Amino acid sequence: MNICVIGCGAIGTTIARAIDEMPEIDIIYLTDRSKECATRLQERTKKVRYVPDIVPILGEIKIVVEAASQDAARYYAPLALSAGVDVLIMSVGVFQDEEFQTDTFRLAKRKGAKIFIPSGAIGGIDALCAASLDHIDEVTLTTTKPPSAFGSNPYLESKGIKASELRERTEIFFGTAREAVKHFPQNINVAATISLAGIGFEKTKIRIMCDPQVQTNEHHLKAKGKFGELDVVTRNVPSPRNPKTSYLAALSAISAIRKITGSTWVGV
Ligand SMILES: NC(=O)c1ccc[n+]([C@@H]2O[C@H](COP(=O)([O-])OP(=O)(O)OC[C@H]3O[C@@H](n4cnc5c(N)ncnc54)[C@H](O)[C@@H]3O)[C@@H](O)[C@H]2O)c1
Repeated sequence: MNICVIGCGAIGTTIARAIDEMPEIDIIYLTDRSKECATRLQERTKKVRYVPDIVPILGEIKIVVEAASQDAARYYAPLALSAGVDVLIMSVGVFQDEEFQTDTFRLAKRKGAKIFIPSGAIGGIDALCAASLDHIDEVTLTTTKPPSAFGSNPYLESKGIKASELRERTEIFFGTAREAVKHFPQNINVAATISLAGIGFEKTKIRIMCDPQVQTNEHHLKAKGKFGELDVVTRNVPSPRNPKTSYLAALSAISAIRKITGSTWVGV
């Protein structure tokens, strides 16, 4: 089976290296707007082949794995789905755009292709999906990250908050998942994943804390409903390549690819 990976950053590189070792995978086509980054990864792997454009190879691949950015998801997901090719999306925040979400989900259905959204950097998505089959009263996510995870952020700048100057644990955002994803597009993909699994972008509430004392990216998911209560804390080690990204996010994508290509699926 051939796979195409979009993005050779923290997640894309980890995915490409891992699936390079999988016997089920024949060729890993890789594209990135940085040709240099993609060709460097090609040199260090057996099956990776850099392609500047994925259109010519769409007929040869089973799945497009987006691990780049919301812009990339917006461009590549419809392109692949239109050709009947499945997509795995890491930049889940793109689905906070209601129109894009509706159009993309409809396109997948019409073309008989699948959209895979890995659990990413958080635990509990399986339970939340199951719980959402009956009434859920509330879903709240409290995300705590070190200042380095926020970099330069226009929303924080507009509020006069400098993450690097905070000396104690500080709430820097509270609002709906839709607003959270808009203001922190690279930090809060999990808010989008939770929204899709549970009660949507408007009802899901997000609190973002910046804490100079922590080394991990922590996600505390709480939900309450007919099923009972869910209370899950995930403390993630940041990726050494990109402190905004948790290592678990890349592992979840690799795990998803193993499920898709394998014959046993635990935690469906
Ligand atoms: N679902 C989750 O839980 C989760 C967790 C962490 C990160 N993410 C998301 O996954 C994505 C990748 O994260 P990362 O840490 O690997 O990022 P990164 O910044 O380390 O790497 C991204 C790579 O993609 C390339 N790229 C960006 N836009 C592109 C485009 N339009 N076309 C071609 N190449 C493009 C960049 O050149 C870069 O090499 C980000 O959108 C991030 O927000 C999701």
